[in-house]
Amino acid sequence: MAQKIKIGKSNVTTTPLGLGTNKVGGHNLFDGLKDEDGVAVIKAALNDGISLLDTAFMYGLGKSEEIIGNVTQDYDRSKFVIATKAAQDPNNNLKPNNDPKFLKRAVDDALERLQTDYIDIFYIHFPDDQTPKAEAVQALADEKKAGKIKAIGVSNFSLDQIKEANAAEQVDIVEDNYSLVHREAEKAEFPYLKEHQISFVPYFPLASGLLTGKYTPADGNKFQQFSAKQYATIMNALEQVKEIAVAHQATIAQTILAWYIKDPDISVVIPGARLADQVHSNAKALTVQLSDAEFNQIDQLFKSF
Ligand SMILES: NC(=O)c1ccc[n+]([C@@H]2O[C@H](COP(=O)([O-])OP(=O)(O)OC[C@H]3O[C@@H](n4cnc5c(N)ncnc54)[C@H](OP(=O)(O)O)[C@@H]3O)[C@@H](O)[C@H]2O)c1
Repeated sequence: MAQKIKIGKSNVTTTPLGLGTNKVGGHNLFDGLKDEDGVAVIKAALNDGISLLDTAFMYGLGKSEEIIGNVTQDYDRSKFVIATKAAQDPNNNLKPNNDPKFLKRAVDDALERLQTDYIDIFYIHFPDDQTPKAEAVQALADEKKAGKIKAIGVSNFSLDQIKEANAAEQVDIVEDNYSLVHREAEKAEFPYLKEHQISFVPYFPLASGLLTGKYTPADGNKFQQFSAKQYATIMNALEQVKEIAVAHQATIAQTILAWYIKDPDISVVIPGARLADQVHSNAKALTVQLSDAEFNQIDQLFKSF
């Protein structure tokens, strides 16, 4: 039985492994998705004991939430945690909107699509340019008081914006781009988050599949954000991660996910999946117990990022 993680100062608890669902109904973001695969992905997660589903209005403009709402009707609501997000305004070219009225409406709309009485974690998906962050968070604090949401999150906020949002210590969780090959948050955010009891959830934990080890040295052009030298470093590091994986009878992806699960600065890791088989495989990360030496070795392999 995996340990339970508490989210910020809230009463929400979850397994340290969740599921990212931008490929569940996210037709506006990815080509070639099938809704039936999305349904299978959600069922695979819940059947394998992955308790947190990370979705957003933006994933299919409500479609991902609708699929999750339909599938979860057959599951015990007390056994899983739904995290969703809003900010993109469908009436203004999907520009971020943090206006309190907009956010409150977004909570109600998400509740309806998800077919549930409460949302465990509600994030402001992106900051807007005009709303004072503390006012935006206060809107969610009102929703928390009303029992519609249980924990308050912000995503894609800079440290200064997080501090402003957390002026009344009401933020429970932050979700930001972070992985072994994208480590800025360690210095930029982790110390503040720890000091203020705010949980951290990294998105793109597998660097969009790169850290599963399924790409070869010839695939460097698919990952333009890395220089040729950086890509070679990643390929080399993954070769060494593979040796650790083999010792645990695990895959590279499971070993990388186990690394995040062991890191005390990370609350929940939410790898995305296109297919149920990926979920079944990733779920086994919960059983991979890295030693401190292995944890440190992987840390060092990716230290330059
Ligand atoms: N807050 C935000 O602004 C924000 C932004 C982005 C994402 N997110 C959230 O974070 C989650 C995670 O990010 P992500 O899904 O974009 O990236 P990711 O977790 O780094 O990569 C997931 C992708 O890797 C591939 N994959 C996963 N498991 C695999 C396995 N075992 N073997 C081979 N390939 C595998 C799949 O893509 P293919 O099969 O297509 O290769 C999958 O869609 C999202 O789903 C979403 O919920 C939040």
